[in-house]
Amino acid sequence: MENKKFYVTTPIYYPSGKFHIGTAYTTILADTIRRYKKLRGYDTYMLTGLDEHGQKIQDVAQKAGKTPQEHVDEIAEDAIQLWEKLDIHYDDFIRTTEKRHTKVVEDIFDRLMEQGDIYLGEYEGWYCMPCETFFTETQLEDGKCPDCGRDVKKMKEESYFFNMKKYQKRLEDFYEQNPDFIEPEFRKNELFNNFIKPGLEDLCVSRTSFDWGIKVRKDPKHVIYVWLDALTNYITALGYGSDNDEKFKKYWPADLQIVGKDIIRFHGLYWPIFLMALDLPLPKKLYAHGWIMMKDGKMSKSKGNVVYPEVLAERYGLDTVKYFLLREFTFGQDAIFTPEGFVEKFNFDLCNDLGNLLNRTIGMMNKYFEGIVPAVTDIKNEQDDEIESFVEEKVKLAEDNIESIHISNSLSEIWGIISRSNKYIDETAPWILAKSELEEDKQKLQSVMYHLAENLRIVAVLLQPFMAETSNRMFIQLGIESEEQKEWDSTKKYGKLEVGTKVIKKGEPLFIRLEMEEEINYIKECMKK
Ligand code: MSP
Repeated sequence: MENKKFYVTTPIYYPSGKFHIGTAYTTILADTIRRYKKLRGYDTYMLTGLDEHGQKIQDVAQKAGKTPQEHVDEIAEDAIQLWEKLDIHYDDFIRTTEKRHTKVVEDIFDRLMEQGDIYLGEYEGWYCMPCETFFTETQLEDGKCPDCGRDVKKMKEESYFFNMKKYQKRLEDFYEQNPDFIEPEFRKNELFNNFIKPGLEDLCVSRTSFDWGIKVRKDPKHVIYVWLDALTNYITALGYGSDNDEKFKKYWPADLQIVGKDIIRFHGLYWPIFLMALDLPLPKKLYAHGWIMMKDGKMSKSKGNVVYPEVLAERYGLDTVKYFLLREFTFGQDAIFTPEGFVEKFNFDLCNDLGNLLNRTIGMMNKYFEGIVPAVTDIKNEQDDEIESFVEEKVKLAEDNIESIHISNSLSEIWGIISRSNKYIDETAPWILAKSELEEDKQKLQSVMYHLAENLRIVAVLLQPFMAETSNRMFIQLGIESEEQKEWDSTKKYGKLEVGTKVIKKGEPLFIRLEMEEEINYIKECMKK
């Protein structure tokens, strides 16, 4: 039987400048879920890329004295390098200036015109350039863009329109029949109540005021609206509408499309309607995450508060950045980055909790059993049965949470195993058992050491999707080589760790404690650059 497939997408980013930690978050999140699904035996496919057209990009390029194409080519190179540094394993990187995309978008536009979904009319309204979005007079807030609060420009031009109204009923029915389509639910409710229920307006889908975009084939003074162009990337990348649409047949519909909360409207409203018009199935799930904020609001160059992921990864390790981001964001909410919070998480969670547990376990295993994992006999500690069922329960919760995209909760269940194990050391006091002459205490000590090593093996298995390098280093220190003992399912029944496994003689610390003040200042300095 063929493996089940899993297709996950990130938004395609605007190549307007260097990517910050917020953009990296979306991509890391997608990659984490992809890694998890792969471990579970899915045939996974992950897509990311760049949204290269639109007036904003044209303007940015002009300011830099470059052609738009030169500008986007440079950013594309940087982006690919960044994803490499962050160990993102995407399967395809789509750029909307590529022929494989532009040709299909032209075809789609023609088809929608022929079908009568797109018609020629005249547009008059307010345009927010940074958001590439039109607003009516009533949608403005104090005369400014309701999304970003910036100035809007009055525009009047001949335009093509998409007949959204035609799909109103179908979209409402779809939401009714698929109440979990958007998560978290409050984001779905926001979209549904504020934008769908009040009635859809026809959407302006072409521009004549600039030319950096895909031209309408039959009327080339018109450039196709950048969101219609961009959203279709999710299918053009798979070869939809081309001579080779094997991937499209295999992977569409997407299983998970990850977006930031600011672009849920485009993905929850326009995208489903475009797909309906093309007679294609809709994605199975849209997940809208929150934003990463700074203490003084949004990240911006002018405020001098931008954090770049590679800067943190170079100094503190990639897994530290991943851990911070994945743990800090709770389901769909915003997260706040502070240098203090970042360094504390490193010192407490990674160094104290996880790093020390591994270090102590390896140390004691060498001291008491020459580094060889001992067997558990009939004589156990009073906590041992409880700890086994505790770990089994946590494994289940970690899995349930990652399945439902509650990534932070999943990590906190894993950290539950780590904390319980540290407590177990204090409770059983292996150093006292080791001093005892009694045979019974020796057997109890065997059980303590087996349980600690098994708990750590389980933690290492569960950490694979989140922190692959750390997990790997743990396997090496624990002496675990067999693939069987690294499989996700090997965590479900306690006791898969083989007796006789030989741990490393002396393990390097996984994480070395940071000098708080020094590092906080270091990060603050980097934010100003
Ligand atoms: N090009 C469009 C997406 C088209 S998808 C067909 C776009 N690009 S963007 O570069 O502005 O944003 C891309 C993603 O980055 C969005 O999901 C957005 O929410 C996310 N983020 C941008 N800043 C962010 C934070 N500070 N924190 C978390 N995510 C943020 O929109």
